[in-house]
Amino acid sequence: MDMTHPEAAKSGASTAQVLELAIILPTLNERGNLAPLVERIEAALGQGGWEVLIVDDNSADGTADEARRIALIDPRVRVIQRIGRRGLASAAIEGFCATAAPYCAVMDADHQHDPALLPLMLDALKSGEGEVAVASRFAEGASMEEWGRPDREKLSGAANALARKLTGVELSDPMSGYFMLSSDTARKLVPGLSGIGFKILLDLLATSDKPMKVKEFPLNFSARREGESKLDRAIAFDFLAGLYDKTFGKVIPTRFALFGTVGAMGVVVHMAVLSLILFWVGEAFTVAQAIAVLSAMSFNFWLNNWLTYRDQRLKGTSAVLKGWAGFCLTCAVGGFANVAVATLLESRGLYWFIAALAGIIVGSVWNYALSSRFVWGR
Ligand code: GDD
Ligand code: MN
Repeated sequence: MDMTHPEAAKSGASTAQVLELAIILPTLNERGNLAPLVERIEAALGQGGWEVLIVDDNSADGTADEARRIALIDPRVRVIQRIGRRGLASAAIEGFCATAAPYCAVMDADHQHDPALLPLMLDALKSGEGEVAVASRFAEGASMEEWGRPDREKLSGAANALARKLTGVELSDPMSGYFMLSSDTARKLVPGLSGIGFKILLDLLATSDKPMKVKEFPLNFSARREGESKLDRAIAFDFLAGLYDKTFGKVIPTRFALFGTVGAMGVVVHMAVLSLILFWVGEAFTVAQAIAVLSAMSFNFWLNNWLTYRDQRLKGTSAVLKGWAGFCLTCAVGGFANVAVATLLESRGLYWFIAALAGIIVGSVWNYALSSRFVWGR
């Protein structure tokens, strides 16, 4: 690619190629995949005009160190190491905001996305053929190396219809994690993004006030090179969460709605355990109630980790145990706030049911605020 910029020529930087494209690689434990991927990107794009932005969420396998090792000898590679924050979507946003390149691509670091598409996507954007270039696993000519997920094909009809409603564009692969657009456009859309579970591409397209022009590229979706997948593919769930977010999300935030729903299910668990212990085991009420509280808290922690914070899920025995303990502690504080508020209101003459409800709401908001900060670390 010839990317000598007229301004660069004036300033004496004529020998260097002007930066045109940032390839954002969100990473979580991708240490061994980085160096070979940078090589493949260079093979696709040539020597210059691009940079790779590795946005690592403090991976335990030392991905950030490996990224810095590469960056030390290759100035086209840059590293953003985030500590205390998690999530693929927010890592992509981090990238949009950290580059001077006029175009940016988001791509998985595990070699499932073929870098050979990068120059084609870039050309399509520069020529105005599309405002967003999307690599699609389902476009004509695409293929997949890894099968074994028949649910995908079946789900995709309904999912695509939903996506069309949301974005106003026809997409063969709305859940694609490989796409490119102008960095300015991306940054303009950022304030309206939800940045959670809901996939970033869909979120960008749905946030734009007018439908964006999409150009699709058939992707040969490879198998992961090494390591393991961090996302599960509950496509349907992501869609529902995304749909909710775009409709009612401004009134009651999606995550809080999920947290509340999980909390309500926790009440059912509580009552079930309580009655089981009271009537079948025959323990004293205090003991039974204590066991029920612990069961409900554990259930809520597990379900929130699995659903509400699926994009920031705690994994590994020590992380899960720490999270669980933190969650129980948080709930204890929330429970205290709950009782305090309810008691106060009831003593002021409020009907007991309303007082209890107010206590529950205050306690839940409290739990939500604390646990989102201290358990799932936002
Ligand atoms: N920084 C950061 N933080 N990166 C993350 C995180 C995170 O919390 N979670 C995952 N990643 C990185 C991975 O290291 C990888 O480079 C990329 O994001 C995709 O993660 P995978 O774990 O390989 O996801 P996948 O293969 O299951 O899902 C892919 O296909 C989906 C479609 O089925 C992704 O491209 C999804 O975006 C896509 O929707
Ligand atoms: Mn992958």
